[in-house]
Amino acid sequence: MSDDAATAIENLSQETRTFSPSSEFVQNAVARPSLYQEAERDRLAFWRSAASLLSWKTPFTETLDWTDAPFARWFADGTLNVAYNCVDRHVESGHGDQAAILAEYEDGTDATYTYAQVKDEISRMANVLTDLGVKTGDRVAIYLPMIPEAAFAMLACARIGAPHSVVFGGFSADALRSRIEDAEARVVITADGQNRRGKQLPLKPAVDEALATGGDSVEKVLVVRRTGGDVEWTEGRDVWWHEAREDASAEHEPVWVEAEHPLFILYTSGTTGNPKGIIHTTGGYLTQAAYTHRNVFDIKPSTDVYWCTADVGWVTGHTYVVYGPMANRTTQVIYEGTPDSPHQGRWWEIVEKHKVSKFYSSPTAIRTAMKWGEDIPAKYDLSSLKLLGSVGEAINPEAWMWYRRVIGGDRCPIVDTWWQTETGAIMISPLPGITATKPGSAQVPLPGIGADVVDESGKPVENGEGGYLVLDKPWPAMLRGIWGDPERFKETYWSRFEGLYFAGDGAKRDEDGDIWLLGRVDDVMNISGHRLSTMEIESALVSHEWVAESAVVGAADETTGQAVVAFVILRGGNEDAIAEAGGEDKVIETLRAHVGKEIGPIAKPKRILVVTELPKTRSGKIMRRLLRDVAENRTVGDTQTLADASVMDLIQEGMSSKG
Ligand code: PRX
Repeated sequence: MSDDAATAIENLSQETRTFSPSSEFVQNAVARPSLYQEAERDRLAFWRSAASLLSWKTPFTETLDWTDAPFARWFADGTLNVAYNCVDRHVESGHGDQAAILAEYEDGTDATYTYAQVKDEISRMANVLTDLGVKTGDRVAIYLPMIPEAAFAMLACARIGAPHSVVFGGFSADALRSRIEDAEARVVITADGQNRRGKQLPLKPAVDEALATGGDSVEKVLVVRRTGGDVEWTEGRDVWWHEAREDASAEHEPVWVEAEHPLFILYTSGTTGNPKGIIHTTGGYLTQAAYTHRNVFDIKPSTDVYWCTADVGWVTGHTYVVYGPMANRTTQVIYEGTPDSPHQGRWWEIVEKHKVSKFYSSPTAIRTAMKWGEDIPAKYDLSSLKLLGSVGEAINPEAWMWYRRVIGGDRCPIVDTWWQTETGAIMISPLPGITATKPGSAQVPLPGIGADVVDESGKPVENGEGGYLVLDKPWPAMLRGIWGDPERFKETYWSRFEGLYFAGDGAKRDEDGDIWLLGRVDDVMNISGHRLSTMEIESALVSHEWVAESAVVGAADETTGQAVVAFVILRGGNEDAIAEAGGEDKVIETLRAHVGKEIGPIAKPKRILVVTELPKTRSGKIMRRLLRDVAENRTVGDTQTLADASVMDLIQEGMSSKG
């Protein structure tokens, strides 16, 4: 085991509290204990039956083809359309008037879209995209804030079988450009701007900047008007959505595609500098999205009001805002703004207003709410809540208990759901009404999922032991590869342990056999539940002319889980320029802004330390473990393998003098 995994595993506290669901919850629960037995008895038959949650244009005859492992094909000879499954069929079955989206805007205004209205909107947008030249198979980049149009754009792409690549609105122009170029997107869908903490932030200028210096595949930019005001306009390329919409027909025949047709690409950080385009396909992905959403969140389509606070820029926003909920005909809240705008009770005000019954959020958000104080949620009536979910990183037992007591009124089961961009849908989670929950543990693989904790040699560990989390059976929503790089797919996920998918996470089985997630064991950090790679930020730093070398670590942080801490060595010969700019403080400010520009504000290091040396092994590998010790104010671990052990003294001295 790597040093990192060992450290993470030692940190595990003992947790013995468990919470059984109430008998009322058990009686009405969607998930039945027999699911586990059915999946155990015949896993493929189980998934076949889960696939009947969808409407197929042509039924499939083969469930899984794993002959070309690790490239899976699920339900491959069936055909379907995702938008039809998420919208049209609900209208056809008489639920056109049911609210699909309860949109809450940051300024306090709101809007409701019924399923019938969503069908019209996405049909119009599908027609507009087709007019703009988008064909089945073409890629479309989506760079939008959290407004209903983001969901419409995704569903419109799905409707014509054009894989989308959603780029988080907080990413920079450079990050957007590299994603556009990797996927060779033909069209970009964006907005003029977005509302953020009472301010209007421009968004389209980032698209203009990205396309000014690259992104040559892009022919058209479709622009949603959100904030109003002046925007730069490129004639012949830019098209207003509200204008194109006027002439667009609300009739559109969905394009029926094969189950293995790509639905989307989503870029995520890996252990090397450039993000990976994770590919998800149609039938298997939507099957697992719908099945997990329904069972994990105990969804009753006619009565629930569901709210997942994730942005569509992340996988959670794909699977548990757009595809899972809409396939299940859920009524859901979509909120444009931040939790503290215009006040710190905003989320709870929304829960009260819409009588939200199922709430899915992240540990970092819960810890932030804890910090703000429980008197804030106490001002609102949260009695509509029936179930709470958590995703993105391990939730510490203290935050779990707070979530249960303060938000869930001691009555709501909490589902701590483990999964990844790559897995496409939830893999490990309690099932409400069945599992007695344990604060801090994701506990058990869902029915139909094979997950295990193994040691260095790939052997399952005993209860009470730690190791690496692996997935040992193919699953319907699994990634089908990395866009344009099948070798990297095999190398990244399938080479560490023979025949097993390695998730990159450390984990432990407790005495009951429950799984506890213990954080990444590779060079991927988890900041507020978002994945960032140390290498990506390092290469952003060294792309600045002042920086010779850098090392980035994720240091434990009370609120965000981890925070980015960067150690940089400055390039000689810039002393005059630096002095002129204002010295070391200015260097730090400049470099933080530079990372913000290269990647996006979420990647800005919380701390930057200018050092003269970095700890390296004799073979020249940076020992990030030691830097993490420094960043977390711990006694520095074993320095024996360092080429020059005195380096650490120097760094520590520097650190303490700068606080
Ligand atoms: O380290 C795990 C952590 O988030 C990683 C996946 O990140 P991403 O692809 O961005 O997807 C996040 C949302 C699904 C995992 O490898 N992670 C996610 N959920 C949990 C978690 N760690 C512990 N407990 C969780 N519930």
